[in-house]
Amino acid sequence: MERKGRRLVLFPLPLQGHVNPMLELANILYYKGFSISIIHTSLNSPNPSKHSHFTFHAINEGLSVSKTSVIDGGFLSLLNTKCVEPFKECLARLLSDVSEEPIACLISDCLFYFTRATAESFKLPRFVLRTSSATSFHVLAAFPILRERGYLPIQDSQKEEPVVEFPPLRVKDLPALPAIDTSVDPTAFYQQVYSLVNETKASSGLICNTFEDLEQSALTTLGLDFPIPIFPIGPFHKTILASSSSSSSSSSSSLLNEDQTCISWLATQPHKSVIYVSFGSIAELNETEFLEVAWGLANSNQPFLWVVRPGLVHGSEWLEPLPHGFLENLNGRGKIVKWAPQLQVLVHPSTGAFWTHSGWNSTLESICEGVPMICTPRLVDQMVNARYVSHVWKVGLQLENGLERAEIEKTIRKLMVEKESEEIKYRASKLKEKANLCLKQDGSSYKALDSLVSHILSLESFSFQAQRP
Ligand code: UDX
Repeated sequence: MERKGRRLVLFPLPLQGHVNPMLELANILYYKGFSISIIHTSLNSPNPSKHSHFTFHAINEGLSVSKTSVIDGGFLSLLNTKCVEPFKECLARLLSDVSEEPIACLISDCLFYFTRATAESFKLPRFVLRTSSATSFHVLAAFPILRERGYLPIQDSQKEEPVVEFPPLRVKDLPALPAIDTSVDPTAFYQQVYSLVNETKASSGLICNTFEDLEQSALTTLGLDFPIPIFPIGPFHKTILASSSSSSSSSSSSLLNEDQTCISWLATQPHKSVIYVSFGSIAELNETEFLEVAWGLANSNQPFLWVVRPGLVHGSEWLEPLPHGFLENLNGRGKIVKWAPQLQVLVHPSTGAFWTHSGWNSTLESICEGVPMICTPRLVDQMVNARYVSHVWKVGLQLENGLERAEIEKTIRKLMVEKESEEIKYRASKLKEKANLCLKQDGSSYKALDSLVSHILSLESFSFQAQRP
């Protein structure tokens, strides 16, 4: 592997759905010849021993995570204030370290909008990573217009109406906060959206975990609206494989322990028979919803693998609300784990469908394996992703009326066993092919990655490290 003699500094947002793609990007750029330094918060810090080819630098921002504040945006605001000073000190230290290669640029999560000012103060080029879809970013960038035209804040009476500027989205699909909750003042959230969009426009380039064939329209419009180059180089977890010529994806960045017993359990199930269920790392269910999910799964008569993260059920440690003997009565047809090796589950031949909260990583990972989805979006970008899965790519179904056991059972059966789902499965297999093609030589992501590497190397960093002998 030819080394480029340049170091890149990456700064992931400390949430699972953001750490994963940032570390995947770090691996991609490492295989392209760059040395990698990761600056990370002490909260949710990645495990350095799983990535021994990077150097890790913790900052002491003094934060703890509360689910509510993640959902109402308070967490984001805290991150963007508490990290400012420790991040600046850490970056200054790295820039002045002459024992390492010179730093070419900073790559920060787009939600860390404060990093624009810091990078500018060091005259260091800054790229921005969008960890979710280009389409949802495009919608966020249009928030001023959507507010002017009365779509936002979302009113209960309008939620089913179409957003004519963004077909096929309905008002309730907009990535607003938290869907239709009037108890939260949306003004602070809008301010954050403006900041993250504007500070992205002021960066040296936007890196997206997507590919052209998937989100062509949003990428084209963003390209017209943003005065910076855009690099759709995803799907990252597959790009790593293509870049490293290795047959297995790089080490996991899971913040929780992955329960490998689910892989041996999957091996005991018939081909494409299992519905894999996970609602990601942030979403919560109340106890009623949790029980509806449990009974919907049980009544569907399909084998299921269900990730119940500790804390998923509001007010419970783990499985306490489940009726006594629930799993035992299913005679091995159901398996529940606290956290799964999701990429291995999705690639497993026994997995037939994915019931997901439509987080972008999960959506993309499912698309890459041709696994059709059932979507239960909970917040922000997930609503857009779910609508695209069901109405644009048409590779899944959305549960439209909340979580109710009869509808869950019906939807699972419709997707897993009924004839009318054949077309969905066919389209999912075709989309998988497109996801693979974009990574091949001269594929769109392959070319975008080459162009990103050239762009990074073409930018001169005028930071004080430039005065090195
Ligand atoms: C959050 C937001 O919810 C999401 O909408 C946004 O796009 C990114 O940040 P999260 O809720 O965690 O992320 O969902 P998702 O984007 O799907 O990311 C979850 C990641 O955790 C995936 O990479 C998935 O493979 C991994 N995962 C999930 C596991 O490894 N094991 C599990 O059991 C569940």
